[in-house]
Amino acid sequence: MYDFDQFPDRAGSDSVKWHEVTGSILPMWVADMDFESAPPVIKAIQERAAHPYFGYPYTQDLLKDHVIAHYKKKYGVTIRPEWIVWVPSVIPGVVAALQMMGGKFMYSIPMYDHIRNLHAEAKLPVVEVPMKRDENNHYSMDMDALEAVLSPDIKCLILCNPHNPVGRVYTKEELLRLEAFCTKHHLLVISDEIHCELDLEDRHIPYFAVSDDAAAYSVTLSSAGKICNIPGLPMGFAIITNESVREKFISRQDGLQPCGNVITLAAYEKAYDGSCDQWKEELRDYLRENRDIAEARFAKIPEIKTPHNEGTYLLWLDCTGLGTEDPADFFLKRALVKVSSGKIYGYSRYVRFNYACPRSQLIEALDRMEEAVDIWRKNKK
Ligand SMILES: Cc1ncc(COP(=O)(O)O)c(C=O)c1O
Repeated sequence: MYDFDQFPDRAGSDSVKWHEVTGSILPMWVADMDFESAPPVIKAIQERAAHPYFGYPYTQDLLKDHVIAHYKKKYGVTIRPEWIVWVPSVIPGVVAALQMMGGKFMYSIPMYDHIRNLHAEAKLPVVEVPMKRDENNHYSMDMDALEAVLSPDIKCLILCNPHNPVGRVYTKEELLRLEAFCTKHHLLVISDEIHCELDLEDRHIPYFAVSDDAAAYSVTLSSAGKICNIPGLPMGFAIITNESVREKFISRQDGLQPCGNVITLAAYEKAYDGSCDQWKEELRDYLRENRDIAEARFAKIPEIKTPHNEGTYLLWLDCTGLGTEDPADFFLKRALVKVSSGKIYGYSRYVRFNYACPRSQLIEALDRMEEAVDIWRKNKK
């Protein structure tokens, strides 16, 4: 049994999440976890670092074999080695896919902030379409709204699944509906699945595996960054079944930074060769319990509404009831809890709350937030 209650000392780790908080502020923002990285990965990195030679890296075919075996075991899908293309990390992979397509691209909002900035990075126009949300705070892609804004110059759609920040893991039916829409309008799907192993419902389906048409016109991207808690060791991979799409993608990547280095390659071998499977399972169990605790606590605060989190470790909190344009500032100043402002995902009056931390830290953050809202409510009267 791994002990996720232990609090690793982040001092000296050069972590942006902890660097930006001072005093007793609790960092419940940036999407990495306040747990040690996966132990087999740490060991592999330490062993590799002890080797005194750091030449140019060579990616062994064996690493592809590990990824292939992992996808077979976890999702029951068969990947051919040539479908895998290494990328410097997921976002440069998304940029390469956007640039190879040219033209406009679209996605549903709210959306992970870095993706929302890509139109500037890739120098391409974007169309953002709000998601649907029902009376139970359940979010889904609004297919009618996507259809309504379509134009021939839109060439691709970015899917984020599991979704950052609303925490959806899309069902097979939803993915098939999206696939039918994209096939009909000849849109390439760029599926960002960096959170795929943080699916807490056991239902994630890699986009390329949802149907033959999905496989034929898509770029699926993922990495070990989130699941093994190694986002500071950038690397990732694209799965592209269509040969001509793959060749265009590869030529777009030429001249970019190398994909991985000798340290990340050692880490990736352990991330996918099965050594971390037990740790990953126990992590998901711990996260499920954290999620349930956090959802139950927020459900008691009438000013805050949250959709049920199906994956990622990020809760999307609608704080409209607090009557402030900047609820992140509210919690920072009144509760000494740093959360991410919803504004960067497309919605002010919302915040994103990261619950991937030892339970004692989670409870402390929840206590502080609840108390801050209680005091605010009393003073309002
Ligand atoms: C949905 C999503 N995509 C991509 C990234 C970052 O990917 P990378 O660091 O591999 O470029 C993140 C990080 O939070 C994310 O949440």
